[in-house]
Amino acid sequence: MTAPVLETRHVVRDYHVGGGMFGKARVVHAVKDASLKVERGKTLAIVGESGSGKSTLARILTMIDAPTAGELLIEGEAVDIRRHGVGKDLRRKVQMVFQNPYGSLNPRQKIGDVLAEPLAINTTMSAAERRERAQQMLRKVGLGPEHFNRYPHMFSGGQRQRIAIARALMLNPSLLVLDEPVSALDLSVQAQILNLLADLQDEFQLTYVFISHDLSVVRYIADDVMVMYLGDVMEQGTREEVFANPQHPYTRQLFAATPRADVDHIRARLAKRAAVPA
Ligand SMILES: Nc1ncnc2c1ncn2[C@@H]1O[C@H](COP(=O)(O)OP(=O)(O)OP(=O)(O)O)[C@@H](O)[C@H]1O
Ligand SMILES: [Mg+2]
Repeated sequence: MTAPVLETRHVVRDYHVGGGMFGKARVVHAVKDASLKVERGKTLAIVGESGSGKSTLARILTMIDAPTAGELLIEGEAVDIRRHGVGKDLRRKVQMVFQNPYGSLNPRQKIGDVLAEPLAINTTMSAAERRERAQQMLRKVGLGPEHFNRYPHMFSGGQRQRIAIARALMLNPSLLVLDEPVSALDLSVQAQILNLLADLQDEFQLTYVFISHDLSVVRYIADDVMVMYLGDVMEQGTREEVFANPQHPYTRQLFAATPRADVDHIRARLAKRAAVPA
């Protein structure tokens, strides 16, 4: 059996805050004990309210930050960024998409150059090849060659998120960690981006970690769900398990905050699916 694309074992991340002139030092246990596995082509959704540790975990998964304790494995390979750093090949395999791509797009850089840049840094492709690949990727995310020479401010929020996704895919990663990628978008645009992500996942066999506080989005995109609260993993399971029968009081409460119709719709669909023999 091949190794999962992503695995963590008992990951912990503490932050030491304060201790300067103002007050006592204290420790924030941002992530307490997170173990997870994501197989190739699957989506793990991480849900939880603000401050539950989702982005902290995302930074560990993307090797931006090291865990205080525990292990991270990418395609079965143990990663220790403190000890060994992260090689280019490994860095390439894992890419991140943020809620607000505008913050990470250089306002003076044309979109074509934004997309070609990772190729210039990481590959020996010629300028013509880079251009070709960037244009191809623009098409894949639903933009056209006419967008190639435009600047970030000339795009809508949804289009900018398409650009961020295209950039993340330029080096053929196996894993995308998406931190609230549609939370800043209008509902109709959210749906388009979610559909695009689903299509790209199928086409490139991509593995996703999808962070969201929105259960209706999670219901749509997740294979597995992990619920976090104040650094603790409260619940983990398949989408069906977690949505149809939330075990933990916190998860039930989270569901109670979700529009009733959503939960009913999910239950009905699961019941229908269960009734049809596989
Ligand atoms: N660099 C840091 N230094 C100190 N504390 C931090 C740091 N980053 C995060 N924290 C703390 O860790 C906890 C988890 O934060 P994190 O940003 O991971 O939550 P989150 O689930 O992503 O929240 P949100 O939904 O608001 O994005 C919070 O208490 C936060 O204040
Ligand atoms: Mg966050």
